[in-house]
Amino acid sequence: NQLTHVTLTNYSKSEESRELIQKALLENDFMKHLEASQILTIMDCMYPTTLAQGCCVIQEGDDGSTVYVLEEGSVDVTKGEQKLCTIEPGKVFGELAILYNCTRTATVTALTDIKLWAIDRQGFQTIMMRTGLLKHSNY
Ligand code: CMP
Repeated sequence: NQLTHVTLTNYSKSEESRELIQKALLENDFMKHLEASQILTIMDCMYPTTLAQGCCVIQEGDDGSTVYVLEEGSVDVTKGEQKLCTIEPGKVFGELAILYNCTRTATVTALTDIKLWAIDRQGFQTIMMRTGLLKHSNY
């Protein structure tokens, strides 16, 4: 499988950022069941990105391929005309499209200038897949 040939890149982070990302992953209902080593590898592979106030981070209905952890600022989550919630730093978002292989379930808009950590589908799936392969080879 081609995922076994993907090179994962580590992005250096402050200790504060490492803690924020790990905590966010461990608090997320869909991520918290991952193994500790997977959480650490996802954290290592997340890359930094910034967006200005008012920018659309995620558009409902799009094909999505990135999972985010919010580090600074806040974002609004809306579905159609309806506001669902405001997300504050230390939270994961954008996980549903990758985990369920569906289109983006909501729109996410930057309420302030924001700083994010991100990981793309390929890296995310490689981490899931490798752990599976390693386990399999242990039998
Ligand atoms: P995803 O569907 O990939 O992209 C939109 C994101 O908004 C979604 O993942 C969740 O992370 C987030 N989201 C969707 N619905 C809600 C909700 N009801 N409350 C909080 N966050 C949500």
